[in-house]
Amino acid sequence: MSDYEFITLEGIEGVGKSTAIQVVKRVLEDNGRNVIITREPGGTAIGEKIRDILLSTQNDAMSPVSELFLLLAARAQHLAEVVSPALASGNCVVCDRFFDATFAYQGAGRGLDMSIIKSATDLISPFFVPTLTLLLDAPVEVGFKRIESRGKTDRFEEQNRDFFERIRESYLNRARLEPKRFCVIDASQSLGEVSDRIELVLKEKFGN
Ligand code: TMP
Repeated sequence: MSDYEFITLEGIEGVGKSTAIQVVKRVLEDNGRNVIITREPGGTAIGEKIRDILLSTQNDAMSPVSELFLLLAARAQHLAEVVSPALASGNCVVCDRFFDATFAYQGAGRGLDMSIIKSATDLISPFFVPTLTLLLDAPVEVGFKRIESRGKTDRFEEQNRDFFERIRESYLNRARLEPKRFCVIDASQSLGEVSDRIELVLKEKFGN
């Protein structure tokens, strides 16, 4: 076991991260861990305000660089206020999205230079590398159908199919490059099957 347990969940929209997070929480708690659930952008009062700005469809004029720096500002606050103290106290932190999302969305999605994203990420989070990243992967079409069934969409969800194809591919590439950290879960299966798979992965990794 590492000194800390920092688990992140990633994936395009509509892959079922919210349900998956509850499964992660339950399995870890069953294994005697104290679990803190949090999310990005957000997780702090300041971060949630930044999240509202980022997700609002009224902010269509936002430039990709503004978007990047707002996300990073929310992350810096989140690390200082929530993640760092929680890990230092021995908690397991489970975070809905983290830096992989920045490479996938702002890098592959928006087309920002990956080396700039890497430098900016290193600047604010040099010590926080997730111990496990669950990548919920499903074809863009599957995610789109689930978003549509929810009704209201946010500023990211309004992007076109190509945007999400690039993001999905980027996530899968990252998973291929770091097979030890990533676990790719087929999220096109039923919710029950996805939950079972997550449970199995976590038991293998954390089970006593
Ligand atoms: P959520 O809908 O999964 O809660 O995430 C909110 C949106 O923020 C989602 O569309 C992805 C986006 N996002 C980025 O573009 N870059 C990031 O670094 C993070 C953390 C999220």
